[in-house]
Amino acid sequence: MSATPKSFFTRKDLLGTRELSPEEITHVLDTAESFREISRREIKKVPTLRGRTVINLFFEPSTRTRTSFEIAAKRLSADTINVSAQTSSVTKGETLLDTARSLEAMSPDLIVLRHSSAGAAHQLARTVRAGVINAGDGAHEHPTQALLDALTIRERKGRITNLRVAIIGDVLHSRVARSNIHLLTKLGANVVLAGPGTMLPEAFGELVKDNLRVEKSVDAAVEGADVLMILRVQRERQTNAFLPSMREYAVHYGLRLEHLKRAAPDAIVMHPGPINRGVEISSEVADSASSLILDQVANGLAVRMAVLYLLTGGTHLAAIDASAATNPAKKNSDKEVHSEA
Ligand code: CP
Repeated sequence: MSATPKSFFTRKDLLGTRELSPEEITHVLDTAESFREISRREIKKVPTLRGRTVINLFFEPSTRTRTSFEIAAKRLSADTINVSAQTSSVTKGETLLDTARSLEAMSPDLIVLRHSSAGAAHQLARTVRAGVINAGDGAHEHPTQALLDALTIRERKGRITNLRVAIIGDVLHSRVARSNIHLLTKLGANVVLAGPGTMLPEAFGELVKDNLRVEKSVDAAVEGADVLMILRVQRERQTNAFLPSMREYAVHYGLRLEHLKRAAPDAIVMHPGPINRGVEISSEVADSASSLILDQVANGLAVRMAVLYLLTGGTHLAAIDASAATNPAKKNSDKEVHSEA
């Protein structure tokens, strides 16, 4: 390689999309694209993070995020350790920070944290030398979900700028919505929010932007939309009676095939999962050709590989080299020629 590529991502931690620049976001997405190919190989492993240690510290349930961080680390040859609240000394009264200090004493390179408290990942990042990745903190942020959503939109639509994205449902309690609103508006999408009045933030504060607005009904929000992003009702985060009943929610805010007809002809449907069929999304829509729910999961792996890689000091072009290192067939590919030029 003739020159060291300039890295746009030199952070110790990934805590949210709020603080990311459009250049950093694009850099993560480009890097994720170069990693996607590894998961299509027969032998899905590269030595890129050999000798690195990643601790997955999950204090809230998770299927997609925990599994994909673990698989991502393993595909990059990192050593991974999973710690859950149920199997850790948290059940004996140890605090998050004391747990983290003990883990830090074993010199991990990265700690991936999911926690029910907003700000937990920030607090951890201030405490430990290891890089910290926020895998969801309460109703605050879920940055890798927004990054994988952006990768999925970009893959299907070719761009994010000027797309109309309708985010529908329990926006108030959704870290996915918050991270997506920050990311998508930064990249120039026009974001429309809709949901029950009790589930929309009263004041958007810093979120108020020209390319963000609220619609009263799902019909109005989906009109001409290119992307329909459906949120789960976060019953575990609701302290008051936000809804008369789930049945009523489904009638007024559940996405059905009739809504798809109002959207742009090639509109795509997204949902971060887990989905509640018949509540926020009908089975007909979830299983339709417009649904990219499983593409999102697949892209989550590539995004998490990219994030693990970049936070341990990697650069995008080197990522391509790494993917080629154990794949001789790639030696003759355009990308490989480019990366060695
Ligand atoms: N989308 C998401 O965060 O799913 P999990 O809760 O299963 O990780």
